[in-house]
Amino acid sequence: MTSAEIPLDDLLREDRRFPPPEGFSERALVSDPAVYEEAEADHEAYWARWAGELDWFEPWEKVLEWDPPHARWFTGGKLNVAYNCLDRHLDGPRRNKAALIWEGEPGDVRTYTYWDLHREVSQLANGLRELGVKKGDRVAIYLPMVPEAAISMLACARIGAIHSVVFGGFSPNSLADRINDAQAKVLITADGGYRRGNVIPLKRNADDALERTPSIEHVVVVARGWNIARTTQTSLKPGRDLWYHDLIRGVPTKCQAEPMEAEDHLFVLYTSGTTGKPKGVVHSTGGYLTQAYATTKWVFDLQEDDVYWCTADVGWITGHSYIVYGPLANGATMVMYEGAPDFPHRGRFWELCEKYGVTVFYTAPTAVRAFMKWGEEWPARYDLGQLRLLGSVGEPINPEAWVWYHRHIGRDRCPIVDTWWQTETGAIMITPLPGVTETAPGSATRPFPGIRATLFNESGEETRSGYLAITRPWPSMLRGIWGDEERFRKTYWSKWEDPGIYFAGDGAKVDDDGYFWVLGRVDDVLNVAGHRIGTSEVESALVDHPAVAEAAVVGKTDPVKGQAVAAFVTLREGKEPSAELVVALQTHVAEVIGAIARPQQILFSADLPKTRSGKIMRRLLRDIAEGKALGDTTTLADPNVVERLKRRYEESGNGGG
Ligand code: PRX
Repeated sequence: MTSAEIPLDDLLREDRRFPPPEGFSERALVSDPAVYEEAEADHEAYWARWAGELDWFEPWEKVLEWDPPHARWFTGGKLNVAYNCLDRHLDGPRRNKAALIWEGEPGDVRTYTYWDLHREVSQLANGLRELGVKKGDRVAIYLPMVPEAAISMLACARIGAIHSVVFGGFSPNSLADRINDAQAKVLITADGGYRRGNVIPLKRNADDALERTPSIEHVVVVARGWNIARTTQTSLKPGRDLWYHDLIRGVPTKCQAEPMEAEDHLFVLYTSGTTGKPKGVVHSTGGYLTQAYATTKWVFDLQEDDVYWCTADVGWITGHSYIVYGPLANGATMVMYEGAPDFPHRGRFWELCEKYGVTVFYTAPTAVRAFMKWGEEWPARYDLGQLRLLGSVGEPINPEAWVWYHRHIGRDRCPIVDTWWQTETGAIMITPLPGVTETAPGSATRPFPGIRATLFNESGEETRSGYLAITRPWPSMLRGIWGDEERFRKTYWSKWEDPGIYFAGDGAKVDDDGYFWVLGRVDDVLNVAGHRIGTSEVESALVDHPAVAEAAVVGKTDPVKGQAVAAFVTLREGKEPSAELVVALQTHVAEVIGAIARPQQILFSADLPKTRSGKIMRRLLRDIAEGKALGDTTTLADPNVVERLKRRYEESGNGGG
């Protein structure tokens, strides 16, 4: 197991249990555990009931067609995701309800009602159509956390274009790779976005990427702060680039929502895997929306008067399912914030919670650990009395952080839903139901009603400690990897003999209550501050530097980020290790992939520990990085290499980096 952030013994000793707080269940949307049995009794009928809460232009004929590993949900049905997120709320009192309350990092505020959002999404959808975007075309979105990010996604959905959102923290190189893989026709970006008081020059990055992306015909640029001339010195390229506000100016505010087949693709989202090339995870329309909608409603107990805030970035799956599609399909009011949690001070999140009366708050364990580090005096300064439910996602939450979150943010009144899921699963899979489940710090508890999860050992036998597997299709499951059927089958559906069993890539335990304790990835994927990073991606970026001959990257336990990137690097002939080179390599990785992948430690070594067949033994490098006793070294070609490396690592203190 690669990530051993939480020692298993600690978890198994964790016997604190938290039943739903007083009064919570009475008011909750679901408080009867019978929902689990009802879903089990006929899971297709159960999911069909959920789908029935959406608006369909044409009813489906069949709930599920399962030809492993390909599932088709709600076949024959037609619907539009943007219609479900907007239009259907316009007939009643929700039309004037705040859909989106947005605050920029500098403190500027914009509020969109459902009516407002519908108008602007329709205009942008018309604008995109004018640019020649048609159903099935791909549109890349590279934006900061501004309302236009959600609007762009919904505008694509409205006309049936497939969006590919690329996290604004990714480098030009990563952006170009994603655009090229999906052959996107249009890019929507911004002149900049605020982060810790600085303006991130997104358009400049995009321009750099655009030199290598022949498929892009047009670039739509959101003016965020009008800072092109001021900060980035880039301009709009005539004929290719245009301002977002010019594109939508005077454009009709009505736009027919394209009736989409349930199985039509809604979006592709790239995520790291075990090779250097990110995977374009493809999601559907009907099934995806059904599960995003259902889980948002039940897991967050989302009610009409809630003010819901998910702190993720739209560049990740959490932003797709739990900022945009799930909450809007539910007609919720949500908060969106552009900037950093510690700008201009470490109480910014709590200030926002107080200001907008946030009731449901969903964040990542890495953020909770940062809050812990900053001290409880920050949240203590604010009135968090409106909060009633807290959520966690992205990595295992250590019981200590869970309990801190419960005490200092939830003030011992709010249930915590620790939600396990992935880019590939599209929506939450294992989670408490806050009005039903007795929670346990560090456990995501039980599969959501209708979901079936099990642990298997290597040979496919059920076990209490092993690989997490999903053993039945679910509506929001990934439909493929963009352009790579082979990789889709190989990565997720080939671990065991039965081709209908999904291999999640995580290791887990199940306890006597049937609670799942997810421990982390079992493949070469790191989880750095809740972001998935493939070790081989970082290795390729390092080897791409002219001084580097070979590199091996492993995860190292980090108190705030969960894991940090540690790199072992062999230099080319004639290149000498130096502190400057460490910095140069760190910068290089940030430039090639993005700052999130920057190695925290780099250790130079003349050799790397290899098996006789030449395979780098990362397991041993992990032992070194973690300062542990070395595991079995008998299969090494030269056991001295690793001993020397361990000594040098210890001598160098922080590994020379
Ligand atoms: O290792 C698991 C971890 O995050 C991985 C999925 O990452 P990503 O596709 O980027 O999606 C993150 C947001 C859904 C999983 O394979 N993970 C996610 N949530 C949890 C978790 N590990 C433990 N507990 C969780 N609640």
